[in-house]
Amino acid sequence: MEFIEIVFDSPMYQAELELRNSILRAPLGLALSVEDLKNEELQLHFGIVESDTLLACLVIKPIDQSQVRLRQMAVAKTHQGKGLGSLLVSQTESMLRARGFNEVLLHARQTAIGFYQHLGYSISGELFTEIGIPHINMNKAIFSPARLID
Ligand SMILES: CC(C)(COP(=O)(O)OP(=O)(O)OC[C@H]1O[C@@H](n2cnc3c(N)ncnc32)[C@H](O)[C@@H]1OP(=O)(O)O)[C@@H](O)C(=O)NCCC(=O)NCCS
Repeated sequence: MEFIEIVFDSPMYQAELELRNSILRAPLGLALSVEDLKNEELQLHFGIVESDTLLACLVIKPIDQSQVRLRQMAVAKTHQGKGLGSLLVSQTESMLRARGFNEVLLHARQTAIGFYQHLGYSISGELFTEIGIPHINMNKAIFSPARLID
């Protein structure tokens, strides 16, 4: 298993789009939309690969110098529940911390709230509907205590 940064428009980015489509959109009778893909060249793409096969991915959209939005988190059906999602999020948080970001925001599907809580994310606000299913705002501070002393 290897944590990788995926280069926009590379063959691995195409594999990312296929994984996102099959896990996040096809089960809802949808496909990735123009809106889903907007400005993705300005966003960061991370994944977990094994033998060149992409097993998990997520997208990070910088909001400003301190905050990012985590979006489009997907783990291959055959590999869910084996710790890959947790590994991908924690490795991504380390990468973001190293690049100076302080907080991760996300819209969690109601069905995935427990997963993010397990990783230290907190709920804020009420449920709302996005792509036809319930979501909720969640966030996590990722700055290291050492930075507070600096
Ligand atoms: C949700 C998802 C990203 C989690 O990734 P994963 O690799 O399956 O999760 P992990 O194996 O790393 O799970 C880590 C922990 O979270 C828990 N967990 C995982 N999915 C959960 C869920 N949907 N609800 C509650 N807890 C969950 C696991 O039980 C595990 O806890 P444990 O270590 O005590 O056993 C993945 O299952 C997935 O892609 N689901 C479909 C798409 C989706 O919902 N994406 C999120 C959109 S916001």
